Amino acid sequence: MSQPVSILRQHMQDAVEVIQLTTSIRPSIGIILGTGLGELAERIEQECAIPYENIPHFPIATVESHRGRLIFGHLRGRPVVAMQGRFHRYEGYTLQQVTFPVRVLYALGVRTLIISNAAGALNPLFRRGELMIIVDHINLMGDNPLIGPNDDSLGPRFPDMSEPYSRRLIALAEELALELRLKVQKGVYVALSGPSLETRAEYRFLRFIGADAVGMSTVPEVIVARHMGIEVFGLSILTDECFPDALQPLSLEDVLQAAREAEPKMTLLVSELVPRLPDAAG
Ligand code: HPA
Repeated sequence: MSQPVSILRQHMQDAVEVIQLTTSIRPSIGIILGTGLGELAERIEQECAIPYENIPHFPIATVESHRGRLIFGHLRGRPVVAMQGRFHRYEGYTLQQVTFPVRVLYALGVRTLIISNAAGALNPLFRRGELMIIVDHINLMGDNPLIGPNDDSLGPRFPDMSEPYSRRLIALAEELALELRLKVQKGVYVALSGPSLETRAEYRFLRFIGADAVGMSTVPEVIVARHMGIEVFGLSILTDECFPDALQPLSLEDVLQAAREAEPKMTLLVSELVPRLPDAAG
């Protein structure tokens, strides 16, 4: 007897049906445009943009979150879908809601996902304004998007996390950065729920347990992507320095200013990476 279709899969199918009535683009590359990759949206030859509120089962935006859209188009000749705007745990969404768009990207055919974010530097050798390729993560959100019944047709109950960030994509990006003469750091990203920023004692602890950068996103999306076998590349803009013995109060304006300054580097790296991505994740 065949398995009944899970509610999650039904919701994915509902979303895909509406999206595929709107666009004929069938992308295998997905991009989550976090802080620092907004500009990349302008590099995409857009064919269509679908507001999240028009897509069945997408979370309803809270007051704080920006209006989001799925952008379909071509980047350097490759068909892509980009999420302009993401959902965060601290806005009150469950991690299942936060990651539902990643489920939908998979159902649309996405097999490679590029994720960006803004993060605070914990590694004392890193500086504000630098880029960091994410090589691994630590989930300190106190939650996991896979808690609950598992749909075995999407992925395993206990998905492997020995290589959450694709080694071959990291190598490709490093090669590319060298060619483009872009300085990039590599490191471990730790995710906390937020929204309060961390104390000095917490920064000291996060550094001690092996993290190089800290933020409030990305990890849930990566877990769900890996659950379904999507290959992931993650990139942080280091927007501030979280050094416990020299900590300055953090202003959102400073974070956004650093992100704006680093954005051209991030945009360049990602827009050069996309045409070099292997055709299908293998
Ligand atoms: N913590 C500290 N600094 C940051 C963060 C964070 O979560 N995100 C961006 N800069």
